[in-house]
Amino acid sequence: MNAQEIRNAYLKFFEERGHHVIKRAPLVLKDDPTTLFTGSGMQPMIPYLLGEPHPNGKRIVDSQTCLRAQDIDDIGDNRHTTFFEMIGNWSMGDYFKKQQIEWMWEFLTEVVGLDPSKLYVTCFIGAPEYGIPKDTEAADVWKGLFESKGLSSDQADIGSEEDGYKRGINEGERIFYYNGSKNWWSRNGAPESTPIGDPCGPDSEMFYDFGTPHNPEFGEHCHPNCDCGRFMEIGNNVFMAYRKVGEGKFEELEQKNIDHGSGLERIAAAKLNDPDVFKISLMWPIIEKLETLSGKTYDAHTNAMRVIADHLRAATFLAVDGCVPSNKQQGYVMRRLVRRAMVKAFDLGVEQNFMQEIVPVIADLYHEDFPEVAEKRDEVITVMMKEEKAFRQTLRKGIHELTKYANSEDGRLKRDSEGRFVFTGDVIFTLYDTYGYPVELAAELIGTQLTLSTLAANWREEFNAKMQEQRERSQTAAKGTFKGGLGGQTLQHKKYHTATHLMYQALREVLGDHVVQRGSNITEERLRFDFSHPEKVTREQLDKVEEIVNREIAKDLQISFAEYPTKEATGPLGALGQFGDRYGDTVKVYSMKDKNAPEDERPFSFEICGGPHVDHTLQLFEGGKKFKITKEEASSAGIRRIKAVLA
Ligand code: ALA
Repeated sequence: MNAQEIRNAYLKFFEERGHHVIKRAPLVLKDDPTTLFTGSGMQPMIPYLLGEPHPNGKRIVDSQTCLRAQDIDDIGDNRHTTFFEMIGNWSMGDYFKKQQIEWMWEFLTEVVGLDPSKLYVTCFIGAPEYGIPKDTEAADVWKGLFESKGLSSDQADIGSEEDGYKRGINEGERIFYYNGSKNWWSRNGAPESTPIGDPCGPDSEMFYDFGTPHNPEFGEHCHPNCDCGRFMEIGNNVFMAYRKVGEGKFEELEQKNIDHGSGLERIAAAKLNDPDVFKISLMWPIIEKLETLSGKTYDAHTNAMRVIADHLRAATFLAVDGCVPSNKQQGYVMRRLVRRAMVKAFDLGVEQNFMQEIVPVIADLYHEDFPEVAEKRDEVITVMMKEEKAFRQTLRKGIHELTKYANSEDGRLKRDSEGRFVFTGDVIFTLYDTYGYPVELAAELIGTQLTLSTLAANWREEFNAKMQEQRERSQTAAKGTFKGGLGGQTLQHKKYHTATHLMYQALREVLGDHVVQRGSNITEERLRFDFSHPEKVTREQLDKVEEIVNREIAKDLQISFAEYPTKEATGPLGALGQFGDRYGDTVKVYSMKDKNAPEDERPFSFEICGGPHVDHTLQLFEGGKKFKITKEEASSAGIRRIKAVLA
């Protein structure tokens, strides 16, 4: 049985036992602002677990795609993935503990055919402080099942991680009790961290024993929850019988539920009796494609290939679910996944048409079982290719800039004993603060693409400290500004000032780059703007300018500023300025940018200016107003003058 067959057998098994098969929920849940991603099968079920009737009845089964972005830095070992499928079944106040355990046993041993002697289970040790008993009931059901196969099944208290697990497994033991940090389930884990209002309860987890030798780096004793790799958790049965009602207070639910979830990829690995989840049928074709593209082997490049396979599977499903790379929230995680995968691909020497080769392989693995993957296939490839292209440009520029920075003559970077340039947290901060250089990008390039450079060991702490300092500084500065008053700048004045920037950029788009500011004057009633242009601006052109300005305002561009060395601002960065103005060594540049636009996209307006402006452009439409040009006339030879209003 391969992974796909295991998924389908599971759905069928529970369907035959009265469960309604439902479709997976998307990775981004629209109605749940508390989490970025769907991280378990129960998340979309919360209202029903708390008693609301589910439209499909009391027995539900599905395979829920999940994303756990918090695991992103663990990817590369043999069993962690950010994206996975959780096959899950629920009883909403219908069957309970005994039935669930018996069905899982039958499914794992009879349907999938796992060797029962390789299965181990854990149960909740109890929390007398909250009045929640030790779960001997679940343990006894397991005991009966193990014994039915002639297996010894002694029970033992293993204790807690906090106490350092004082014992391992003794001969004949198969059922282990752990405390709330391991055997209590809520969206945030242990009873103490369970969100108030959430359903929760003790759980019983199932482990597969790969029989590999214990690695003492992970602790003196080996036991099911040891991380050495001998045991792998394959699934969890939650006996969701409680709801947290206050700190340290749990109330029994009238409706006792089952929430079961198993990792499809992990059961498939157990079926292969190989602890490497990347060998399963939903992963291996991606690895094989990477081997072909790079001409390198998985054995020699395990980490890079695992990261790529994991991250692109996750990003592909995010794209299927309508997510696009951006700088915010889910889009940011998606961007990070794609970019990390690409950096690893560079390490493998794969530099071209990467998405176009890999994404179709991933889509093919899922298109039969998840029709939306087939439907969105072309769209997904386009989204991923676009991000690939943008990142290639960023990288090229980024490598060039970092190299230039490292090699500059003034010796601003020290070298280590091997002669490599050392980028400290201070330097990364300067790059970020002064040049807007993305921190994660710097961290990914230095030491990999930039082989002659290295990151200082404590760069992250140093960087964070600098950020904190800056935050404190700017808070004080903001307070100071407020006390001093904003120089008599009313909101109306700021709105016209912002409109002036938008119009300046729009004029250049409609008339051409010869348009340069020659003067500006703002009152409470209107803006006035003088600029170079050899002839009268036609009404048609003015309409276009109005249209662009209103379009950009409607996008609710976010307004921010940063200081740049003047040469950079006016040179390579191409900031707009005013003809004939003399600037100091550094200038303040205002950006007006769509918050959903890719990081590397130019802001719509990027202009040297002292401010102040509104915070975001929709403020200009307040009171149902629109931007309108009221007059166009000659100011002097070769200079035109426009007056405009928000009305
Ligand atoms: N909700 C349970 C889990 O995620 C099944 O482990």
